[in-house]
Amino acid sequence: MQLIDGKIIAEQIKQEIAVEVAQIVADGGKRPHLATVIVGHDGGSETYVANKIKMCESVGFTSSAVRFESDVTEVELLKCIENLNNDLNIDGFIVQLPLPQHICEQKIIEAINPRKDVDGFHPINVGRMLIGLPCFVSATPAGILELLKRYKIDICGKNCVILGRSNIVGKPLAALLMQKGVDATVTVCHSRTPNIKEICLNADIIIAAIGQPEFLKADMVRNGAVVIDVGTTRVPDKDAKSGFRLKGDVDFQNVAPRCSYITPVPGGVGPMTIISLMKNTLLASKKAIY
Ligand code: GUN
Repeated sequence: MQLIDGKIIAEQIKQEIAVEVAQIVADGGKRPHLATVIVGHDGGSETYVANKIKMCESVGFTSSAVRFESDVTEVELLKCIENLNNDLNIDGFIVQLPLPQHICEQKIIEAINPRKDVDGFHPINVGRMLIGLPCFVSATPAGILELLKRYKIDICGKNCVILGRSNIVGKPLAALLMQKGVDATVTVCHSRTPNIKEICLNADIIIAAIGQPEFLKADMVRNGAVVIDVGTTRVPDKDAKSGFRLKGDVDFQNVAPRCSYITPVPGGVGPMTIISLMKNTLLASKKAIY
């Protein structure tokens, strides 16, 4: 079994981006600029945004954060997005999700200029991805593909099983894996799939993205399978400084011995997600997508 180390790969890509940014600046160009919109004080969102801002600094990007209290109105938020769309200094921006109940997330996402939508959540980017056109690909699916690529894991013709059909991970990942040139055979399982165990036992590659800690058990995984764990559920942990620790969707201890490759949690997919966002921002600043 080989551990897929997302920290090492993310570090490599970080260096690649930093070198490219340094060259852009040396040539008299502008530093890529990522803006983040955050609403309220959700602990997870605060951490994610802080990490994104820190990573911007590490690769030489400019970053800015726009903060709102959780009672912000939809109109105020839409105005903010309009300003970011029109701000020529800002190459790309994200609105950290989830948003408070009274705000329609879809309406907010659709207000973002697709050319600045470095999260790849806008229907234009999702649609372009589905038909194989250049687009911003959402960060987690892009990060997973990059991990498989850098570990030279063969995807062509393989049975890939995705657990979970979220708009952020499961659905875009299915589209990417079945794309011409990637060429996987893809099955997506969800809460209404009756025979998940049998489907998983037929998989060469399993990607677990359902948010249920330790859902994937050893008896669901065939020998030699590749297992990618996207789960990051916070579970209370008295011994941890933060009071919690992250738990993946895979029963790692029992599944790992069966695998040819497996990602840990933390340190697998997580670091790749944030670095993929940096890559998208660099592409946005170069107007390299469309
Ligand atoms: N919330 C959880 N993951 C993400 C993400 O990738 N982007 C945004 N904007 N919000 C999130």
